[in-house]
Amino acid sequence: MEKFVICGKNPLSGEIAVAGAKNSALKLLAASILTVEDCRITNVPDIEDIQVMIDLLRDLGAKVEQKNRHEYIINTKDIKKIEINPVLAAKLRSSIMLVTPLLARFGEVKFPYPGGCVIGKRPIDIFLDGFKAFGAEIKEENNFFHIKTKRLKGCRFVFPWITVTGTESLIMAALLAEGKTTLINCAEEPEIAAMCDYFNSSGARIKGIGNSTIEIEGVKKISGGTFNTIPDRIETGTFAIIGALCGTGVKVVNCNPEHLAVFWEQLKKIGVKLDIGKDFVYIKKSNSLKPTEVRTHEYPGLTTDLQPPLTVLLTQANGLSLVHETIYEGRLFYTDILNKMGANIIMCDPHRVVIQGPTKLSGVTMESPDLRAGMALLIAALIASGKSEIGNIYQIDRGYENIEGRLTRLGANIKRVSK
Ligand code: EPU
Repeated sequence: MEKFVICGKNPLSGEIAVAGAKNSALKLLAASILTVEDCRITNVPDIEDIQVMIDLLRDLGAKVEQKNRHEYIINTKDIKKIEINPVLAAKLRSSIMLVTPLLARFGEVKFPYPGGCVIGKRPIDIFLDGFKAFGAEIKEENNFFHIKTKRLKGCRFVFPWITVTGTESLIMAALLAEGKTTLINCAEEPEIAAMCDYFNSSGARIKGIGNSTIEIEGVKKISGGTFNTIPDRIETGTFAIIGALCGTGVKVVNCNPEHLAVFWEQLKKIGVKLDIGKDFVYIKKSNSLKPTEVRTHEYPGLTTDLQPPLTVLLTQANGLSLVHETIYEGRLFYTDILNKMGANIIMCDPHRVVIQGPTKLSGVTMESPDLRAGMALLIAALIASGKSEIGNIYQIDRGYENIEGRLTRLGANIKRVSK
């Protein structure tokens, strides 16, 4: 067991490079099952979630070759098994991304309920309704779903609710399905568009990429190819907030600021000083932050994954802020820990908190509740006086590569120690 020990209040400066997007690379790893040819994925972040996905692929019989720290070649030709490993699946919500490729290629899949961050109910009803719309039959037996089909059939499917992995799954279902599929009310995240562009370069016929309505003409074969993972927009925003709180000049590089348009507007409203370039953002600490109202929304709105670090930023704004988490009903409970550090946050209901700022924070011993909340607590520790200890850092390692090394290079005092 490891923990982070952080001594706060160090001024940070310099450059920090953004890794490839976790929520893009994970899906492309799973999509390698759609073809028997080699798939090369570059700019893959070196994080726990990626390792679990690779273990899941290997468990199914895929050959995964690591070319260097951030590049893999996957070949799934020899996959014989259609049952997803339940122990590994319990660690990762994205294990559900393996379901469609297995179903499309082998006509059958068995899988358990997926795990992942405990931030709300996170049901899979829309996935199941989607598979049924494609003509698949679903049985539930011994805590496993068993789905079968002769061949998926193109359909018209309306998402009752916008879901990222749900949209990605049904796009994959349509690729090799018979006939045409129209998906309505799709999620529009840049990771989905990047995935669709890659599929089209591998022989798919997808129209409406990046829109809420997507049309797909099924094809007989998807080829292999090379996918260069897009920069992680959540890391980009997280590092920008770190710069706003403790930087004397932090440049976030290797990023695509276009993917965070609403987030930058929100930061400007709060009074953060930004210089936004094509592939970098330069941030300087501001001495007077303004309170605001934050409301998470599906893309291109303000992403829920940046809500926890934004909440930490607002503990330093002068006045009353409201954070409205509209996507998940369990993604504000970490604010309790911020209160232990000295913040003044009142939970109105599971979806809303009111923050009275500015408050001085002091270091405490705490546990990381989930990936993004863990990162928010780490940021709070960077601005707190004294020493903080964060346990359960597996949760942070799931999504951020060598975070202590990268922040140390900016000047932070953060150490990984064995418990
Ligand atoms: N939902 C349903 N039924 C379903 C699927 C989803 O009701 O069958 C609901 C969820 O309960 C939630 C809402 O739809 O209230 C949106 O959830 P969504 O399905 O979009 O979330 P997800 O696809 O499971 C992805 C990211 C999350 C990110 C959300 C929202 C991946 C692997 N995960 O999750 O990322 O918060 O979209 O943008 O892509 C993270 O990286 O820390 C993370 C949690």
